[in-house]
Amino acid sequence: MTATVIDRIGLLVTNDHSLGEGALGLVRDAALVIEDGKVVAVERAGAAGDQHFDAGGRCVIPGFVDSHTHLVFAGDRADEFAARMAGRPYEAGGIRVTTEATRAATFEELTALTRRRREEALRAGITHVEIKSGYGLDVDTERRCCEVARAHTEDVTFLGAHVVPPEFRERADAYVDLVCGEMLAACAPLARWIDVFCEEGAFDADQSRAVLAAGRAAGLGLRVHGNQLHAGPGVRLAVEMGAASVDHCTHLADADVEALAGGDTVATFLPAADFSTRQPYPNARRVIDAGAQVAIATNCNPGSSYTTSMSFCIALAVRDLRMTIEEALLAATAGGARSLRRDELGRLAPGARADALLLDAPSYTHLVYRPGVPLVSATWLAGVRA
Ligand code: NIG
Repeated sequence: MTATVIDRIGLLVTNDHSLGEGALGLVRDAALVIEDGKVVAVERAGAAGDQHFDAGGRCVIPGFVDSHTHLVFAGDRADEFAARMAGRPYEAGGIRVTTEATRAATFEELTALTRRRREEALRAGITHVEIKSGYGLDVDTERRCCEVARAHTEDVTFLGAHVVPPEFRERADAYVDLVCGEMLAACAPLARWIDVFCEEGAFDADQSRAVLAAGRAAGLGLRVHGNQLHAGPGVRLAVEMGAASVDHCTHLADADVEALAGGDTVATFLPAADFSTRQPYPNARRVIDAGAQVAIATNCNPGSSYTTSMSFCIALAVRDLRMTIEEALLAATAGGARSLRRDELGRLAPGARADALLLDAPSYTHLVYRPGVPLVSATWLAGVRA
């Protein structure tokens, strides 16, 4: 079997504390040995291999695992963003603007738009991505969005319960019936997850519970958008229902933090959304110190967070969510993998998929120290240079 060796790594982040120092499992002067798409060994620099890559003393980290994106959409909401920066508040209803454009787009148009965004994310070091539907909000368009997403990932999330579309105004319960019935039946074969936006202006606790229960009955794992714009029932509902992840967690009460600490649901922070909507930043320190599992993700979408930069999210998580640099890097890699229940991702240890990033820097600290600078200079996807 052909072995690829990434050699002369100045600082290797394995995310496996049994292999090295601290929670990041740091190994200095290392070589990463890859066979058949997987890491097979972490050795001292100077290891032999059929294909040899010289890291030149720089830092190698696991690829970013982006566990929350909405990459399938058409249209542009730059004007809405500009108005927000001038003082207008963010509202969930903006989603309907994107829905109109997405419904009007063909499969080919959506495919081209999504491919471009996925390529942009890969250039920024995102080696695995979750992609939600949620801008179709009718049976045909939701299914089309799931099909487009499926070309890029097995972690497709059906988000028919994003908001109530205009044709169901004042008939939210009828829309929930459609989501739980015909729409779910059309989308479930293409998806691994179901999600619901549990928020004022979107779906209340009972409607959200109904959506999650229907998804679970259809064999899907559960995810929730919770506590984004207000304190509310989303986080506790997610934990109660055994969701893999509850995302946003911007407005947390003590009871939410206690629930997260006592459950198996990952609290996924989306700091670029808080940045772009001028929400207050959540205090991740409080959640981590309580013992909950955490992740960070880009939430790339046209309304609240139009970025594919996980490095930017890491910088915000450190500066504004009060994570340490190590916690933020762990949250963007192993945390995302945990939220997607994918043990093979988010680490560079024997048995893991060899998704690795070479940073043009001596240390991962530069991701935060040099905000906005594209530091990813080489990427391996399952051991192959991307
Ligand atoms: O995660 N909160 C709901 N969905 C997206 C926002 C979508 C939009 O504004 O278009 C989010 O922030």
